[in-house]
Amino acid sequence: MKKTSPVSRSGRFARGPGADVTRFTESISFDRRLWRHDILGSLAHAAMLRKIGVLSRAEAAAITRGLKTITREIEAGKFRWKTELEDVHMNIEAELTRRVPAGAKLHTARSRNDQVALDLRLWLRDEIILLLAAIADLQRALVSLGEKNADVWIPGYTHLQRAQPVYLAHHLLAYVEMLERDCERFWDCHSRVNVCPLGSGALAGSTLPLDRVLVARLLGFVDVNGRPQLTQNSMDAVSDRDFAVEFCAAGALLAVHLSRLAEDVILWTSAEFNFIKISDAYTTGSSLMPQKKNPDIAELARGKSGRVIGNLVALLTLLKGLPMTYNRDLQEDKERVFDTADTVRATTQLMAAMLKNTKVNHATCAAAANDPALLATDLADYLVKKGMPFRQAHHTVGAVVALAEILDKPLNKLSLAELQSVDKKFGRDALDVFNLKRAMTERSLIGAPGTKEVVKQLTRWRKLLQT
Ligand code: ARG
Repeated sequence: MKKTSPVSRSGRFARGPGADVTRFTESISFDRRLWRHDILGSLAHAAMLRKIGVLSRAEAAAITRGLKTITREIEAGKFRWKTELEDVHMNIEAELTRRVPAGAKLHTARSRNDQVALDLRLWLRDEIILLLAAIADLQRALVSLGEKNADVWIPGYTHLQRAQPVYLAHHLLAYVEMLERDCERFWDCHSRVNVCPLGSGALAGSTLPLDRVLVARLLGFVDVNGRPQLTQNSMDAVSDRDFAVEFCAAGALLAVHLSRLAEDVILWTSAEFNFIKISDAYTTGSSLMPQKKNPDIAELARGKSGRVIGNLVALLTLLKGLPMTYNRDLQEDKERVFDTADTVRATTQLMAAMLKNTKVNHATCAAAANDPALLATDLADYLVKKGMPFRQAHHTVGAVVALAEILDKPLNKLSLAELQSVDKKFGRDALDVFNLKRAMTERSLIGAPGTKEVVKQLTRWRKLLQT
């Protein structure tokens, strides 16, 4: 048998795998990024094996020392990863055993099936924390942009048609709300990631008296009250990737939110809107048209949502036909999870950086927000306050808008006589409705885009997002 054959083939196999098989089945090219978590898991497993007497004190110490040396070598880029050894688990174990004979005992009552489930959970747990920090930073960037431009009004849109005036901050805070729900989803997902599968073996646990609780505690698999979190069914534990699906689903929704924010940014930087200007460092040029400044970060944020959604679909498709328990298909989960994690975190960070380097064009925002048509609904509300049923008020103001169009006048330039030609209920105070500043103070409901409420929301978020 060839020396380079993985331990998983020793004994039963007459020869090593063919080169094409090795290339096809390896995962070391991508799962090596789990190395730190793989070693952490092995350290905990070794400590537990020592406690139950499988390892002597000297053996456990030698294994721990060996794993620490390997850690330093990997960190220094000096560790030689071998494709013939298939994956991160066997690479590290083989190298450990080559140096420390007791390494051969490390895999006692452990299978790569529970090991890989453990590694992925440990990795994802860290990744979620990093992602949550990145999302909070993007939320802070949105709040800051809102605060810096606290008195800027823009039209709010429905159907991408001007609808009613809002504070720019109100629009930005809508994304802060969306991102907060993303955080909640990732936290919720975290609670199911944070469950220790080690001790499940290949699928049926072990006949050895493992101390699963100790391992869970050592690896921080505890809930908020410090209670250890252990998988309760060995078959489920090695075949379950629900936590990965949940992460990819929460990631897909986050990517969609980032894509929508990106779309607003793209629209707002266009000459047609001209609401914002992204600083040069965060835009790119055209290779042909010298005048162009393109919002490529936002466009890529929008574009990358496609692959993140794809990762979720790929993962679900991967799982749907699998019989119990572990099947090699599951090796395909990692690249999807890694790609989602990398893509959403980088996108979140870049969007935050871009927004921190974005200026608001007050003049164009004001010009757009001052379109009196945005207050047509306020004029209908005026009639409602005079006792007119809303449906009738809606119709009446519709007729006023039509009249203004015929007379080629902005709504707020109609005379009292012209207004009264449509309906006698219009009084001298009707045109006061078009005072935008006043109109904004009147939107005072909880969650409304009015002056007081937006300040309140900005303050609320500033406090919540304090670091
Ligand atoms: N590289 C494998 C994976 O990523 C590790 C588990 C392999 N287990 C096995 N029985 N072949 O899923």
